[in-house]
Amino acid sequence: MSNVFYAVGEQRASRVNDLFSAIARRYDLINDLQSFGLHRRWKHRVVDLAAVQSGNRALDLCCGTGDLALALAQRGAEVAGLDFSLPMLEIAKARGRKQSTPQTPIPNPQFIQGDAQQIPFPDASFDVVTVGYGLRNLASWENGLAEMYRVARPGARLVVLDFGKPANALWRAIYFGHLRCSVPLIGWLFCGNADAYAYILESLKHYPAQRAVAAKMRELNLANVRVINFLGGAMAINYGEKPA
Ligand SMILES: C[S@@+](CC[C@H](N)C(=O)[O-])C[C@H]1O[C@@H](n2cnc3c(N)ncnc32)[C@H](O)[C@@H]1O
Repeated sequence: MSNVFYAVGEQRASRVNDLFSAIARRYDLINDLQSFGLHRRWKHRVVDLAAVQSGNRALDLCCGTGDLALALAQRGAEVAGLDFSLPMLEIAKARGRKQSTPQTPIPNPQFIQGDAQQIPFPDASFDVVTVGYGLRNLASWENGLAEMYRVARPGARLVVLDFGKPANALWRAIYFGHLRCSVPLIGWLFCGNADAYAYILESLKHYPAQRAVAAKMRELNLANVRVINFLGGAMAINYGEKPA
């Protein structure tokens, strides 16, 4: 895959949309395989940090097949999940219908098609704004973060989960090797699409990861800004609160 294909620019969004629409059916399976199931644990941590309180409204950006949105709903939030890929949203909606049973009724998240770079909600609408493996995909991650800030209410928690860049050079080289070789191989074996998974490394080149996201959160004047690293920084959560 050429570097130019997903280069930041006006074509990028539609290419990223095509990519996720193409792999939607196998997305959850491959997530489990490539992370050895660990993404579930990291998402659990995101939801813990979101600290949902009764009556809270939560927005999950780039919600994909709905992992975070559904988990936030289980904690009692009124949730909106936003994504621009209809096939991903269809899977999220189907999972929402299954999650809620007459015995354990859980209000379904509202799954909406839309662009994370122009969030279709007014300022100060949410108590929690999350994004899992989404910011890195945007044409401008800074704009995505600024949009998260805009729709957050004073006191809201902003939580970002994404691939990171380990500070240790040796570990970074090993981990990038995994992203370059084994992850596309898993994509090819289980999804017939190596290119879609080679894209992870490609997208990381355009994304300065956890340290720059933390710096940007401070620039936006978020309070209690924190970086939580996993696997030596290969994966990271950025956390911040909009000042009350
Ligand atoms: C790697 S998936 C993450 C899905 C889910 N959040 C998770 O953690 O499993 C990235 C998602 O971001 C969506 N996406 C990428 N750019 C977007 C944009 N500009 N607006 C809305 N959704 C976008 C894709 O359609 C895809 O579903």
